[in-house]
Amino acid sequence: MIVAGNFKANMTRKSTAAYLEKLEQYITEKETTPQVMIFPPATALDSLKGKILVGAQNAYPAQNGAFTGETALEQLEEFGIDTILIGHSERRHVLGESQEAIAQKYAFYKEQGFTIVYCIGEPLEIREEGNDVLMAYLDAQLVGIDLSYEKLVIAYEPVWAIGTGLTPSNSDIELLHTALRHKIEKPLLYGGSVKVNNAAEIMALDNVDGVLVGGASLDVDGFFSMVEDAQKCDS
Ligand code: PGA
Repeated sequence: MIVAGNFKANMTRKSTAAYLEKLEQYITEKETTPQVMIFPPATALDSLKGKILVGAQNAYPAQNGAFTGETALEQLEEFGIDTILIGHSERRHVLGESQEAIAQKYAFYKEQGFTIVYCIGEPLEIREEGNDVLMAYLDAQLVGIDLSYEKLVIAYEPVWAIGTGLTPSNSDIELLHTALRHKIEKPLLYGGSVKVNNAAEIMALDNVDGVLVGGASLDVDGFFSMVEDAQKCDS
């Protein structure tokens, strides 16, 4: 199991450091087995040697250069960061990243050997059009993406479930993940309003290999409780 936390534009360098220290301590003391990943904001990235995999929420596909406002490979390398989130719905829909730009980013960070958590997910109007339209929409988000890459993790996150408190039914999550499993032989995370009170049941579903948690990851005790839920699925 994989339990990943996406802080988005929340937390500071100071609060992230305190969070990671506490989480690392929990994981070490309880000897938990799930892989834990945390994606703090870029200003909070740091060199860490523990069990938590700390990754970038985004980065520009270049070593360095004239890309105002962006973080590039050189800035990640300074902290030994080799994990990245690509294709998150907020980057696609709020920041306007095209599939072409996302695929370029993917190819670049794959070439660098990064662990990539690649996000896909549909808006509500697509889901309402039925399964064929939904699967075609997700397929379009996989264009240009090498699904055989060994360090790839997929996160399925319906856009309408992110930050809304809404989730698909458990059987819908299971159906969708099972359909994805036929195409993609990589760990499949579910994301979108995963909370302390639904994480265990979601992780128990077939073909769900973990969760990507936004809002509910900001509370370290709650996040650790989800790691413990994942641990039960591992054993
Ligand atoms: P949420 O966000 O858990 O706050 O819905 C999930 C995500 O965007 O990864």
